[in-house]
Amino acid sequence: HEEFTKVKNIATIELGRYGIETWYFSPFPPEYNDCVKLYFCEFCLNFMKRKEQLQRHMRKCDLKHPPGDEIYRSGTLSMFEVDGKKNKVYGHNLCYLAKLFLDHKTLYYDVDLFLFYILCECDDRGCHMVGYFSKEKHSEESYNLACILTLPPYQRKGYGKFLIAFSYELSKKEGKVGTPERPLSDLGLLSYRGYWTRVLLEILKKHKSNVAIKGLSDMTAIKSDDILTTLQGLDLIQYRKGQHVICADPKVLDRHLKAAGRGGLDVDVSKLIWTPYK
Ligand code: COA
Ligand code: NA
Repeated sequence: HEEFTKVKNIATIELGRYGIETWYFSPFPPEYNDCVKLYFCEFCLNFMKRKEQLQRHMRKCDLKHPPGDEIYRSGTLSMFEVDGKKNKVYGHNLCYLAKLFLDHKTLYYDVDLFLFYILCECDDRGCHMVGYFSKEKHSEESYNLACILTLPPYQRKGYGKFLIAFSYELSKKEGKVGTPERPLSDLGLLSYRGYWTRVLLEILKKHKSNVAIKGLSDMTAIKSDDILTTLQGLDLIQYRKGQHVICADPKVLDRHLKAAGRGGLDVDVSKLIWTPYK
């Protein structure tokens, strides 16, 4: 493995109607080394050095949404599933784009092995990418999410929590528990903690705490380790007679729920049309 000098090269990108300042280095091919700005086609994610190239491209590109199957639509929100093996160029473009906002992830994976779930806001001009997550087709470690990104103009509006909730809905359909690949970024961890707290405590409230960790895991597809860590972090676990016991009075649960913030955008499972990858 060659070590890159990880100096941020591309300072801004244009994507759809947004100019976006980048956060981190991304290993674009060498011919882009002299660029400080890149112009992305918001649909196929091809990137170009000059605005005129993009304008010419937009007249020819006939994609109006990501190149995959629409597996969810509710109101103006859609999710598309893109198979990295069938859409290698798109997969690579997405990885280059995402790395601009991800610090620690190695993104030079074989895109063949991944599915990409692209969240879009749709209008009469097309389906505009808001964010995405990637998922290994087969994970031995029961990862249900590899990378997650909400594009900066769309951050802090609940889309991240929507993407996380969506990844668990897919796990439920597979009949498996899942967990995100580590390490998580600070923002990633904050988002997951908020999601886990809200989902688990809502259930504990309803069941008046009469439920074990295994039961919580069955209901939510959240891995038992993540449940234990979350509840321990909230000081809701005691160890009695060799067993973890969840102890929570409704007032304490309400206080934690309030602190966990807003619920984000809900996934309407009845709008998810999907069968697991085989
Ligand atoms: N400051 C403080 N808290 C923040 C935050 C920020 N800038 N951004 C997110 N959070 C926390 C908040 O608790 C927030 O909930 P709240 O708004 O109800 O308080 C919660 O995370 C999630 O917010 P949400 O709006 O659903 O998430 P998002 O759409 O902004 O996306 C990420 C979250 C992590 C996907 C997004 O920050 C991102 O793409 N980051 C860059 C890529 C990355 O780090 N990915 C994770 C790699 S493991
Ligand atoms: Na990740």
